[in-house]
Formats: sequence, structure tokens, C-alpha cells
Amino acid sequence: MSEKLLAALPEESVDLIVTSPPYCMGKAYERRSDGIEEFVTNHELILPQACRLLKPGGSLCWQVGLHVQDGVSTPLDYLVYDIMRRIDGMKLRNRIAWTFGHGLHCRTRFSGRHETVLWFTKGDDYTFDLDAVRVPQKYPGKQHTSGPKKGQPSGNPAGKNPGDVWDIPNVNSNHVEKTEHPCQFPVALVQRLVRALTKPGDVVLDPFCGVASSGVAAVLEQRVFLGAELEEDYVNVGKSRIKDAQAGVARFRPVDRAVHQPSPTSIVGRRPPNFASSDSMLEVVLA
Ligand SMILES: C[S@@+](CC[C@H](N)C(=O)[O-])C[C@H]1O[C@@H](n2cnc3c(N)ncnc32)[C@H](O)[C@@H]1O
Repeated sequence: MSEKLLAALPEESVDLIVTSPPYCMGKAYERRSDGIEEFVTNHELILPQACRLLKPGGSLCWQVGLHVQDGVSTPLDYLVYDIMRRIDGMKLRNRIAWTFGHGLHCRTRFSGRHETVLWFTKGDDYTFDLDAVRVPQKYPGKQHTSGPKKGQPSGNPAGKNPGDVWDIPNVNSNHVEKTEHPCQFPVALVQRLVRALTKPGDVVLDPFCGVASSGVAAVLEQRVFLGAELEEDYVNVGKSRIKDAQAGVARFRPVDRAVHQPSPTSIVGRRPPNFASSDSMLEVVLA
């Protein structure tokens, strides 16, 4: 379990800690659920331990969403931040909004379609390889039209900074990475963090690793992976996914695959008023 692993590892031995902890909302894999108080108590113990393990210049990325109880939402990253800001030397660099298209359809509030990743560094001299994670420019060949740079590219030809809003499909039932775990990371989410925040051969740790999606990302990027997980079934799935990644046969959605955007000309969006539905299809009602 994570507590044992964290206690056993030497101080300043890890380059990146990336995880999504239990939200303490009574999910299938949560043995107890005392709600937010339990989340805070656990984090008051685990976050200082985790920071102790980071090398100077290392990063900690903590991915959480909302804790929802009796219809009331609490942003868990507020609670994480409140503990982290009291840990010496840890500095928040980004609050990344991870957006995705699928999830529960809510009737009493707007459906949740984003969660966040808080990225902290240990100190100011930290690894950040922007070139490793650039994304295509919106207008790749665009040039300055006037001034001393006229005719030169107006953006970096190698691509732009991906920004702090990341649209990466979550792992639902049709996703190529889907396992029995109810809320696994998409590999692409961790892959971008691994590429930007570590170097080949660095050590990546996920203390709540589920089916080891972060392990797959680390292995794909030639990093060393350490993980802890309580449930034996998830451990076994995780080990097999890591073996597949080592053998070059892991199933994962590439980080640079475009996300489907509904087109305004597609008829599958909102049904216009002059359309009537029959049992199996939509028919245009001609006025
Ligand atoms: C939100 S899930 C993480 C899923 C993971 N990111 C993945 O891609 O599969 C949290 C995981 O933490 C595990 N867990 C809960 N308490 C734990 C503990 N004390 N030590 C290790 N793992 C724990 C749960 O079984 C669950 O699989």
C-alpha cells in the first residue's frame, strides 16, 4: 500500500510523483468513506511524505475533481492546495484543467466535464521540457506581415505551448484503454506530464496507481516506474499492462490524436424544431 511504499523509499529519490488519490466518496475501491474529513486526514499524512521523496527540482502532480455529497460539491484541489502551501519549498506552477467529453448526465447541476491537476515543483530549479510537449500551431505557416520580422514565422514552427486546458478523452467503456477499473487515467494525460517534467531514465512514482496507467506512460517514455495499489486485481491488470508496454504492444490512445468535435452541419447535435422523430430516425417535416 502507498503508506508502506512511501515510508520505505529513500529521501530525494523520485523525479515525478503523479497520481489520482481516492476521493473518499464511497466508490467501489474505497474501503471506508468518512468523506471530506478522511480525505484531509489522509492527505495531511501522505503529502509531506511524498514531498520528502522528491529530488530537488522534482515535480508532484496531484489529479482530483469534485467531492460530491448530498448534491453539494467541494473542489478537492482546494483542500490539496491548502495542505501543500504549508510544505516548505513546494511551489505551485500550474492548475491544469483536464477536460473530457463524457460522464454522468446531471439533472440538478451542470454535468461535470473537467477535473484538475495541481503541478508543484520542489524548489525553483526544476525540469520543464516545453519542446517535448509542443502541439501544432492553429495556423502553422502564419508569418509576420510587417515590421522587422516580416515574412518570418509568427509562431514557433515546432508548435505551441499546450496551455493549461487539456482536452483528453477520459477512459469510458469504448476507450481502447478501458479495463475493469472505474476511473483510470488516460495514458496520454500522464504521458504529457512525464515528457515535460522528467528525462529518460528518471523515476516516476504513483502511490495510488490503480491499473498502472501512469506506469504505462512512464515505460512508453523510457522512465522507471514505481507504484502502489491496494487491490490485488488492479495490481495484476497493471502488471500486465506494463509488460505490454515493455513489449511494445500496449493498447493506448496516442497523445496527439485529434479529439472528435461535433460539426454544426451534422444532424446528430440538437434536434431543430422543424424535425420530428419517428421510431428509428429523424424525418424533415416540410412546411
Ligand atoms: C482514483 S484511483 C487511481 C486510478 C489510476 N490513476 C489508474 O489509472 O488506474 C485510486 C486508487 O487508489 C487505490 N488505493 C486506495 N487506498 C490506497 C492505499 N492506501 N494504498 C494504495 N492504493 C490505494 C484504490 O484501490 C484505487 O485503485
